[in-house]
Amino acid sequence: MPSGQLLLFALSESRDFALLVADRLGIALADLEESEFEDGEHKTRPLAEMRGRHACVVQSLFSDARYTVNDKLCRLLFLIGAINDAGAASVTAVVPYLCYARQDRKVEPQEPVTSRYVAQLFEAVGTTRIMVMDVHDLAAFQNAFRRPSEQLEAIPLFVEYFAARLGSEPLVVISPDIGGTRRAMRFSKALATACKGEVDTAFVEKHRAGGTIVSGSFAGVMEGRTAIIIDDLISTGGTILRAARACQEHGARRIFAAATHAVFAAAANQVIADNLLAQVVITNAGPIHRIDPRLMEKKVTVLDAAPLFASALKAEQAGS
Ligand code: R5P
Repeated sequence: MPSGQLLLFALSESRDFALLVADRLGIALADLEESEFEDGEHKTRPLAEMRGRHACVVQSLFSDARYTVNDKLCRLLFLIGAINDAGAASVTAVVPYLCYARQDRKVEPQEPVTSRYVAQLFEAVGTTRIMVMDVHDLAAFQNAFRRPSEQLEAIPLFVEYFAARLGSEPLVVISPDIGGTRRAMRFSKALATACKGEVDTAFVEKHRAGGTIVSGSFAGVMEGRTAIIIDDLISTGGTILRAARACQEHGARRIFAAATHAVFAAAANQVIADNLLAQVVITNAGPIHRIDPRLMEKKVTVLDAAPLFASALKAEQAGS
């Protein structure tokens, strides 16, 4: 049985978000010592006495200007290992964005199922539990992780935001691929409740043609409505843009995009700048960078996911 107050750790690159969570919990971040060696190896150790304590480590796993995804993953795993070796009663990995979650099945023969290998790495270093936000595919995540896992959803944040601003307009929520249909339906239902009205759901199919990803069939009614495209993440922005074009072709009046994770790789800036999109709404579940600050100010709204993590950690503590 864990003793004493929760010890909340964060690697330096996830400190900003972890501080928001710690603030909500009314605690300070636990101290750790981080050092780096000339060839890129690193060493991190907790400075608190760990025996019998319940620890959580916050680390969002997408690259930033300093660290690659793989660096961040190693840094997290090694810290969890050190905490575990120091005698902690339990260690929860708090991973707002879980990397490699999209590689969760073999599409071509002999492809890696990397999400499962990542899950095995967490297990190998003694992770007791993992808490994530809007993973790519919930069933695949739950199957890959044999340890207790919890997924938080950004839907309540998006509902609050859009209901307050667009609540009186005819709305339709659209999933940019079939895999996201359930998420879109949950969002649409919650939004309808908050707006005390009807919110339709639509989806556009995404498939490969000659090696390129293209949009296929479209289902739903869009004419004269305000469309909100919802997805787990924006990487290059290609998926959102294709869906926005489909919304426009089918008569949407205005188009918004909501995505939990702002990976913003490659040409994402051009996509966000596109006049098709009225506004892009994301969360702070990972470092927001690789975006032009002027574009950020003009077109991007960031919602704070820290309160959701703080509540989930409080509930976990109460139950432990
Ligand atoms: C894939 O199915 C995901 O849910 C996202 O739609 C996709 O990863 C977004 O990537 P991009 O922005 O590069 O199209």
